[in-house]
Amino acid sequence: MSEPRAHLLEMQDIDKSFFGVQVLHRMNFDLYPGEVHVLLGENGAGKSTLMKILSAAYTADGGQIRIDGKPVHFHNPAEARAAGISTIYQHFSQAVHLSVAENLFLGNPPLNRAGLINWKKLNAAARDALALVGSTLDPQTPVNRLGIGDRQMVEIAAALARQARILIMDEPTAALTEREVDHLFELIRSLKSQGVGIIYISHRLEELMRIGDRVTVLRDGYNVGTYPISETNEKMLVRLMIGRDLQQMDIPRMGEGLPEALRVENLTRRGKFEDVSFTLHKGEIISLTGLMGAGRTEVAQAIFGARPAHSGRIFVRGKQVAIHGPGDALRLGIGFLTEDRAMTGLGLSLNIRENMTLPYWADGSHLRLRSFLDLRAEGQLTSSMARDLNVRARSLGTQVKFLSGGNQQKVVLAKWLIAQSSILIADEPTLGIDVGAKEEVHRLLADFARMQGGAVLVISSDLPEVLRLSDRVLVMAHGRLVGELPRAEATEERIMGYAFQVER
Ligand SMILES: Nc1ncnc2c1ncn2[C@@H]1O[C@H](COP(=O)(O)OP(=O)(O)OP(=O)(O)O)[C@@H](O)[C@H]1O
Ligand SMILES: [Mg+2]
Repeated sequence: MSEPRAHLLEMQDIDKSFFGVQVLHRMNFDLYPGEVHVLLGENGAGKSTLMKILSAAYTADGGQIRIDGKPVHFHNPAEARAAGISTIYQHFSQAVHLSVAENLFLGNPPLNRAGLINWKKLNAAARDALALVGSTLDPQTPVNRLGIGDRQMVEIAAALARQARILIMDEPTAALTEREVDHLFELIRSLKSQGVGIIYISHRLEELMRIGDRVTVLRDGYNVGTYPISETNEKMLVRLMIGRDLQQMDIPRMGEGLPEALRVENLTRRGKFEDVSFTLHKGEIISLTGLMGAGRTEVAQAIFGARPAHSGRIFVRGKQVAIHGPGDALRLGIGFLTEDRAMTGLGLSLNIRENMTLPYWADGSHLRLRSFLDLRAEGQLTSSMARDLNVRARSLGTQVKFLSGGNQQKVVLAKWLIAQSSILIADEPTLGIDVGAKEEVHRLLADFARMQGGAVLVISSDLPEVLRLSDRVLVMAHGRLVGELPRAEATEERIMGYAFQVER
């Protein structure tokens, strides 16, 4: 008989309340060296809170934490980091105006004899750290120029450079495409073989089945079970998590001969994308997919006027339009659900209701609220939207910064659905959203197109989502449209075939 393995980490009877509401109840969680232990649960179940207690970003109200069998009491995140606990956050913690290299060694950059930053050393060390994640990014790039996927890679590289023993990954793959996920998983396997313990949070069940050794399911702040992954299946996990089976609805087919909603011709933003042309019809859902960095988000930003294109033409409902900024786009009835919700999608210190109705107040919006009656209607609308999307909060007056990641995403989505834009561009609409709510988001997008005559352009790296929602799939690679597949011909293999196309 072999010795029972020694724990790397034990968390016992952890309690936590916010403003008198208990969000963790006597939570137990443990981790062995070289193990991937998955945390699973609905949006707001308490996953991130438990991990923030481990990394000392929050203080628990009760319970113990032991590392290598010894009780620990960290007073701040720096102490936890020094003990080998590293977190890759759901919301990036980067200083976006600094370079990749500066972010990698934030707080302890290599210094020269005069005590100043040794830039040469810093950039070389940064290059080494990036190589650990297989990235060839220029270390001098400012982080705010990077897409969401590259930022993730930088965060992971930073944790590896700190030689973490316990690595917390809070939805690390939320915005990654298959190949990048494969790459990340290779990395995780090599970390495991070095004895690193990994706590992995994700809403993508198929991923957990691939990478996890054990899983702990949280529901409303309770641990409802810990199992070896090999003894579970997706259906069982969903039932533990949401307390029922998942109902998948059919998405109705699009009607024939519908009028044009949006047409772009030869849209170009030098260095980002070139010569992009496509048409989106009323009632239609099309997807723009491709690898990270293919230029999908940039195209969306150009249509919305956030970063206008250099050349090309845009037509809305058949008429050529000039979109110089988001105000123009809003007036034309174009809504944009951004991938980077914390930066551009939300007013963090506004409450849920205010966020949901933000576009109504936008300068020059055609949606201005006119009377007291509108305000009442607004109240009803926001309540029913919050109910449909299962937004977990004490009330609609709760400031958005206090919501869990997935619940914040639901608020951004509700905002655009309520705005009744006629054209909705949705960049990663279900990023960070749990399986139950994801189904609801798909239903709302489908209703918006089919029943309310809206038109939807979805940008998504989640191929099952792309296949489920789209009437047509457009694939981008290297800033160009390289393929178009009607619903009947779209498969993951075909999409990937286009996406990996080499530049000619
Ligand atoms: N700083 C805070 N102040 C007040 N309430 C908070 C705070 N942080 C979290 N909460 C609340 O605690 C609960 C658990 O949130 P947590 O972020 O841990 O959920 P989660 O499981 O990570 O969800 P998601 O899948 O959406 O990321 C939620 O109800 C959330 O609103
Ligand atoms: Mg979370």
